[in-house]
Amino acid sequence: MTAKRILLGVTGGVAAYKAAELTRLFVKAGHHIEVVMTEAATRFVTPLTFQALSGHAVYTDLWDERPAGGMAHIDLSRRADLFLIAPASADTLFKLAHGACDNLLSTLAAARTCPLAVAPAMNRQMWENAPNQRNIATLKADGVHVFGPASGAQACGEIGAGRMLEAAEIFEQAMALFEEKRLQGRKVLITAGPTYEPIDTVRGITNISSGKMGYALARACRDAGAHVTLVSGPTGMPAPTGLTRIDVQSAREMYDAVLQNAGKSDVFIAVAAVADYRIKNRAEHKIKKGDGAPALELEENPDILATVASLPAAPFCVGFAAESQHLLTFAEAKRQRKKLPLLVANLAQQAMGADDNEVTLLDDAGAHPLPVMGKPDVARAIVQHLAAMLSQPSKP
Ligand code: C5P
Repeated sequence: MTAKRILLGVTGGVAAYKAAELTRLFVKAGHHIEVVMTEAATRFVTPLTFQALSGHAVYTDLWDERPAGGMAHIDLSRRADLFLIAPASADTLFKLAHGACDNLLSTLAAARTCPLAVAPAMNRQMWENAPNQRNIATLKADGVHVFGPASGAQACGEIGAGRMLEAAEIFEQAMALFEEKRLQGRKVLITAGPTYEPIDTVRGITNISSGKMGYALARACRDAGAHVTLVSGPTGMPAPTGLTRIDVQSAREMYDAVLQNAGKSDVFIAVAAVADYRIKNRAEHKIKKGDGAPALELEENPDILATVASLPAAPFCVGFAAESQHLLTFAEAKRQRKKLPLLVANLAQQAMGADDNEVTLLDDAGAHPLPVMGKPDVARAIVQHLAAMLSQPSKP
């Protein structure tokens, strides 16, 4: 993605400290960020903090004479690709909903030509307060993007909705606004991570899949406008916001969850590293050491992808092939065997558990190699290819 110009508005709330981390995330990703603060925000975090993190002067005052021409209230938001207010206090949300122009931040919002996004942060009672809810509804109707808030423990000691989203989630949702909605309205079902096949009550067989590729694809599909259901093996990764996640352990649980959802999906992407075998003679109790080495009997698990691909009204199926040798030959044979329109081939030793990946997309038109990229970028490239295939007129 090309570098974006972000204007970050910080208003008066204890969550202002999270805006410092948010600034870091934008800078780290190569974006240009300028910060504007309300007077109340400066009571929580100093402008110097944001100046140091963003590398740019921080503006707080409508009467600031620094910008050339002295038009801070217009210039700052006119040169931005996005005006993001995080945290957005109840007072600022009220001002935005009513078009107030009584400080630099509210005036910038009124004079902007770019999209506006807000990440509310306040006490749960203030969030639920009827006038605040009316303001949120007004802002949404005006096309303002509202990120969160989250539910949970609040700085005031109460528990409920009103907590600002974490910086990483706000960053993700902001970046998603720049994505083309290539999969708008499509229902996408994705499997991710390893499976866990129990040997006894405390032990099992699993593999080194981290779930990073599957989760990155789930996010990329969501950001492209799809309704995503993510069936996840045990990864320990937090659930991405804005999608439905179903947690499973074994291959058979994954099979059941997928088959329950496949009929209502337009696309099925099988990224999970599913165990090919499970333990047939699983022990009901923890196996004791003194009883001699147990003989494990294995039986085959169902092939989830092949089953879905052979359904009478199968969704568009995308498979993954992790091979350790003869990558393209083995992967193409797998694509043919499982009857898949699209398969993503990668080297198991390079892909599993890593942050980067180098993949080749295989379809009826041939092999399309992609360069080594971070998994989020690989996921975006796969979505782009998938969306192009979906938009092709279907063959007779
Ligand atoms: O046959 P193999 O395991 O190499 O195939 C890999 C592809 O098939 C992946 O897309 C994987 O998610 C899927 N798969 C599956 N169910 C299995 C085994 C693999 O859905 N039991």
